[in-house]
Amino acid sequence: MSNWPELEQKYFMRTFERLPVTLVRGQGARVWDEDGREYLDFVGGWAVTSLGHCHPAVVGAVSEQAGTLIQVSNQFYTVPQIRLAELLVQNSCLDKVFFCNSGAEANEGAVKLARRYGKRYLNGAYEVITATDSFHGRTLAMVAATGQSKHQKPYLPLPAGFVNVAYNSVDAIKAAASDQTCAVMLEPVQGEGGVNLPDNDYLAAVRAWCDQAGILLILDEIQTGVGRTGTLFAYEHYGVEPDIMTLAKGLASGIPIGAILAKDRASVFTPGEHGSTFGGNPLACAAAYATLKFIIDNDISGNANRMGQYLTAGLERLKQKFQFITDVRGRGLLVALELAGDIAQSVVMACLERGLLVNRLKPNALRFMPPLIIGNDEVDEALVILDTVLSTIAG
Ligand SMILES: Cc1ncc(COP(=O)(O)O)c(C=O)c1O
Repeated sequence: MSNWPELEQKYFMRTFERLPVTLVRGQGARVWDEDGREYLDFVGGWAVTSLGHCHPAVVGAVSEQAGTLIQVSNQFYTVPQIRLAELLVQNSCLDKVFFCNSGAEANEGAVKLARRYGKRYLNGAYEVITATDSFHGRTLAMVAATGQSKHQKPYLPLPAGFVNVAYNSVDAIKAAASDQTCAVMLEPVQGEGGVNLPDNDYLAAVRAWCDQAGILLILDEIQTGVGRTGTLFAYEHYGVEPDIMTLAKGLASGIPIGAILAKDRASVFTPGEHGSTFGGNPLACAAAYATLKFIIDNDISGNANRMGQYLTAGLERLKQKFQFITDVRGRGLLVALELAGDIAQSVVMACLERGLLVNRLKPNALRFMPPLIIGNDEVDEALVILDTVLSTIAG
């Protein structure tokens, strides 16, 4: 057997802090390492494997498409791309779609679209207001959009045109706006920044103010979209409609894809102004169509809502038991558990030893983002392991 960690160290850039496990197979909510050890996967490829690992609907669609047509240039019409665009439009408040390959790329495209809108309708306004503790991706412009200094500092100076203001404050947005502002970009629930929920009236107030100011509202639903928070899109919880929405992560249950969706009035690209070699290729679109259709037809968002409540209730019981749990928060199957000290990494390691994968969100917080198809038994199993681990820590 090869020493994969040693080989990784030799050949791979030092970008990831990996856990000492080499995963080789997955099925449903479970993965196996090279020694055949089984793990319950509550990381889900970072909120990606919406239908779990190797779901038959996705495997079937990918296998069939791989044997039919994988890639052609976007000079030509392809059926999976158009079918997926139609399904997204029929099931969202948006009218037009563009496909790319990742979340950061979708957000970059969304900002380009907002700048085109600014050029056309707002005297060249180009600035985008975003929130502190947001996360919008790793490209240079998205690092500037991401309101976290740890992501920005190593890459200064950053591209101009972004203003980061406090989350949950419409006044902060108003104060930062100028005649150069073309859009506000927010996550409906902040994922990487801490699973931070918006105040109930925040997004509606931002929407109302954007309308008044004549600027666009971009919702980054890369982590929250496609059922994750218990509705197909998180904007549905808050009674608002974005002008532009971005998706990626769970859209194709593991095959890379990103999407920009826009209302007709904001869909202002003209031919040649934006593009992508791989974006919307038949393979990724077939996987996304199979994922999205399964989620819609089987009300998997409803399952995420129920299982989210079940998981949160179980975590609340643990909070009653262990005083060092300071908060349980989330929406659907995007849930965080906050701890009194910086012990998240040791909890992650102890869970790993007992066959549960969880994410260290912060030094003092864990995040749970299992597949949306999980059932009560799997939640119970995770809660038992957590209880055991936390009991050991409590001493
Ligand atoms: C809300 C949000 N936006 C954008 C991104 C970036 O997506 P990607 O890693 O696919 O570029 C992420 C990734 O975690 C995210 O959570």
